[in-house]
Amino acid sequence: MTAVLPRRPRAPLSQAFRAARDLVDPAVFDFWAAKVNPLWSWERPMARLKARRQASSDAVTLVLQTNRHFAGLRPGQHVNLGVEVEGARLTRSYSPSAVDGDKIEITVREVDGGRVSRHLCRDAKVGEVFDLGTAFGAMTLPAAVHGSWLFLAAGSGITPLMAMLRQLDVAGMPVELDLLYWARTRAEVCFAEELQTLAARHDGFNLQLALTREDDGRGAFAPRIGQADLAALVPQLDQRSVFACGPHGFVQRARELLEGRVQRFDAEAFTPPQALPGETGTVEVVLSRSGRTLTVPRDRSLLQALEEQGVRPASGCRMGLCNTCACTRSAGITRDTQTNARSAEPDATVRICISAAATDLTLDL
Ligand SMILES: Cc1cc2nc3c(=O)[nH]c(=O)nc-3n(C[C@H](O)[C@H](O)[C@H](O)COP(=O)(O)OP(=O)(O)OC[C@H]3O[C@@H](n4cnc5c(N)ncnc54)[C@H](O)[C@@H]3O)c2cc1C
Ligand code: FES
Repeated sequence: MTAVLPRRPRAPLSQAFRAARDLVDPAVFDFWAAKVNPLWSWERPMARLKARRQASSDAVTLVLQTNRHFAGLRPGQHVNLGVEVEGARLTRSYSPSAVDGDKIEITVREVDGGRVSRHLCRDAKVGEVFDLGTAFGAMTLPAAVHGSWLFLAAGSGITPLMAMLRQLDVAGMPVELDLLYWARTRAEVCFAEELQTLAARHDGFNLQLALTREDDGRGAFAPRIGQADLAALVPQLDQRSVFACGPHGFVQRARELLEGRVQRFDAEAFTPPQALPGETGTVEVVLSRSGRTLTVPRDRSLLQALEEQGVRPASGCRMGLCNTCACTRSAGITRDTQTNARSAEPDATVRICISAAATDLTLDL
């Protein structure tokens, strides 16, 4: 069975608004407009926290109302959220777990020592306003969806898969879908009740929870993905289109097990790979726009090195996915922290979250 999934286009900006853009300083407009309505801005995509609810013992779902400047996103995509934490504006990526016109929901798991996740899980109040980036990510369902699917989730990696599962639910579950969802304990399973309800509602949807730190009543713990017999758990595994999401190690293992052996394999990781051993010593980095010259270590990403010196370049995912940190390197050589490959072309664009300085550099920052 093939089904066409619904899309919700956003209203275009009015012509008058575009014409006035040249006459107004957006920052000044935003400052005064926010005093009337916190979501009014000249062109900044923003969202207001409308409601919050517990999603599991360590995760919270935040319901966000977006303003008209947010161009929307498709279930499965991610968005950068700018959050004020103790006077500093920090940006992290989140994959909405529900998408409905100008309302999106993000489900955030509190990470030990994590600044933004702690704030969102514990302190963010209804009414708080966040900056939003442009949606990114290619792990989305095709417009005409058919066949047999397998979703593999670990921890907070359930969020984009949940958004797509809800999309399929609205479309009447036009595909065969198995969801294998790894969590440490039952209490940490997000959307537990809704998942059971969906499994009861749709014959085509099969849910399997794998609890790695809670026994299944017979004294056994679920194996991690590397030890699990996926072919025994999922009928006709080779016929499946697979989406996997979770920490880097989980996604990497899923890729090793399935890529090339199933109909299609797509994956997104929420954590970066372990950094490769870097080069030692320091180099000079010239920030040409701000006129500063800094001495930075070569063994870490430029983003981290600059932040350590109080510079706050635009950033988001911090792992090379969203392009928010991209800037021009007009001189010098950088090293890709994920592959150790060096890049020396003049006037190249570099993502500073996954680039370290190999030599003295000039960056357009
Ligand atoms: C594309 C993308 C989508 C994402 N979607 C979601 C989502 O829907 N829900 C969600 O809860 N998170 C999601 N994340 C993770 C999220 O962006 C943050 O990394 C996470 O909330 C932690 O931020 P923090 O400021 O609290 O931690 P930080 O202050 O940045 O880090 C604190 C410590 O925690 C470690 N750490 C950072 N992130 C993680 C993590 N995810 N798991 C384990 N340890 C970590 C760091 O290494 C560091 O030691 C996503 C990440 C990406 C790249
Ligand atoms: S912060 Fe997303 S690519 Fe660098």
